[in-house]
Amino acid sequence: MCGIIGVLGKKDVVPSLIGGLKRLEYRGYDSAGIATLTAGGIDRRRAEGKLENLERVLEGNSLQGLAGIGHTRWATHGVPNEVNAHPHMTKQIALVHNGIIENYRELADELTAKGYTFESETDTEIAAQYITSYIDDGKTPEEAMAAVLKHLHGAFSLAVIFKGHDNLMIGARRGAPLAVGWGDGEMFLGSDALALAPLTVRISYLEEDDWAVLTRDGATFYDKDGKQVERPIKQTQLSGAMIGKGNHRHFMMKEIAEQPAVMGETLNAFFNPKSRTITLPDLPFDWNDLPKMTIVACGTSFYAGMIAKYWFEGIADLNVEVDIASEFRYRQMPLKKGGLALFISQSGETADTLAALKYAKEHGQHIASIVNVEESSMGRESDFVFHTQAGPEIGVASTKAFTCQLVTLACIAIDAGVKRGIIDHEEEARLCAALSEVPARAAEILDSDENIKALAEAIFEARDVLYIGRGTGYPIALEGALKLKEISYIHAEGYAAGELKHGPIALIDELVPVIVVAPSDPYFEKTASNMQEVMARNARVIFLSDADGIKQLGGRALGSIELPKVDPFVAPILYAIPVQILAYHVAVLKGTDVDQPRNLAKSVTVE
Ligand code: AGP
Repeated sequence: MCGIIGVLGKKDVVPSLIGGLKRLEYRGYDSAGIATLTAGGIDRRRAEGKLENLERVLEGNSLQGLAGIGHTRWATHGVPNEVNAHPHMTKQIALVHNGIIENYRELADELTAKGYTFESETDTEIAAQYITSYIDDGKTPEEAMAAVLKHLHGAFSLAVIFKGHDNLMIGARRGAPLAVGWGDGEMFLGSDALALAPLTVRISYLEEDDWAVLTRDGATFYDKDGKQVERPIKQTQLSGAMIGKGNHRHFMMKEIAEQPAVMGETLNAFFNPKSRTITLPDLPFDWNDLPKMTIVACGTSFYAGMIAKYWFEGIADLNVEVDIASEFRYRQMPLKKGGLALFISQSGETADTLAALKYAKEHGQHIASIVNVEESSMGRESDFVFHTQAGPEIGVASTKAFTCQLVTLACIAIDAGVKRGIIDHEEEARLCAALSEVPARAAEILDSDENIKALAEAIFEARDVLYIGRGTGYPIALEGALKLKEISYIHAEGYAAGELKHGPIALIDELVPVIVVAPSDPYFEKTASNMQEVMARNARVIFLSDADGIKQLGGRALGSIELPKVDPFVAPILYAIPVQILAYHVAVLKGTDVDQPRNLAKSVTVE
């Protein structure tokens, strides 16, 4: 996902622009650039690849200015090279853009007919030239923006500076978030509050189709009809310190280590330790009136939904269907009015999940979402939002956001079970007691880091790795495989253990490590026999279980990871942690970019 930063400053803005881009790196990118207003003109520097390349360009060819914009680009239209990098510039403006201008070809034809030419392959440059054409026709920057926004189709956020207007910056939002930061005699634009955190904690969010005119005295907001509107100034909880790595080598390990604390904070939002009950805010639907519950998400968030299906069925006797957003949004699923559609997303910006949400809304569903980013698009589109308290998650591989999603889903499932009369207070108290143990047990698991690192050394040269589990261990097998493949680039597959005989066992030989997820739960014996099957074919098994399970089966494994013995209800929350740590150490041994793996973005805001 691209990142935008803009500064209307009272001192040289280049350090703030570069600092802002560094805080946006987590979104994933393949080129970067900045532009500033210079004496009467506009100048820019761009570079392919990582920010250090842009900094090297600036060392050799410095840039100053009191107003400027910056951008990290994740290529959609046009290859990731310097020519296609943002900012895009014309003789009148410089512009940065996140999203897609869908009607760029039509606009390009119009501009070509007027004699305009282009240097890049991007939709962004066409938007820049389009704005310029209105200024060339004598429009003011504000008039030009108001007019152009009516002609642009697609999802985008923009930040623009104008030659000769050194106290002006304009931002616009349609489908891709943009925040206004309020300073003292300076103003800011950023893709999210994280980008602006060290500059200001006073933030206003543009609403859908808003645009904002910034001067150093403040911001004026307009809606799509050009009517002036008010947008509140909020104090974010983010601080510059929250987004450092602390004493960790990578954000991912920092975020793995934060899990006991943030799971505790997430739990505390719903769990009452005195009464040992769950209390959710008033929901805009009645659990007893739902014909069906549909859970939709992508990637790791989808695996959280798969686990939740077991919980809602088992604890609340609810009919639940789970689907990946990219399939759900096109499959024409029959949805009876009055059902509940729950969307799970760390970023709250995933394009497929957002599109699925809109489909469900059009089909009369109650819309709820579980998101980790304040003011995300998904949250704004929902009838009700559960905010996980994971805090900023910078590593592209989701870890603490995932386990906080699970804690939230567990609380919601208990609430549903009680409200539907499926579980009594005694069972509620038992489940809550198990949940309340999770943060402490998670902290214990973090102490297994050295053992897990040793096991990573035993498997990091494998070409293929198989993860197997049953029940809620099956989505954890899928999640473990995803973690490994996305940060170490090793091919890995997660499978329901019972499916081994239906094909995957043909893969097994001494070169294929098999990670067996087997808490002491009702499936244990069956998973144990699957483990015997693969070991009989010389698989090198890494066995995840508790002391009882390891005593019974661990002896013949390549290695075991001992987890605390916990209620099966909360096992998937805790078994997520060792598969995160295993993937992390394998990736470090492979030397890959752990926090920003190749080809990936933290939030996939395009289809
Ligand atoms: C998880 O480690 C991956 N980065 C990816 O699968 C991610 O879960 C997926 O893109 C969904 O993102 P979201 O939770 O922000 O919607």
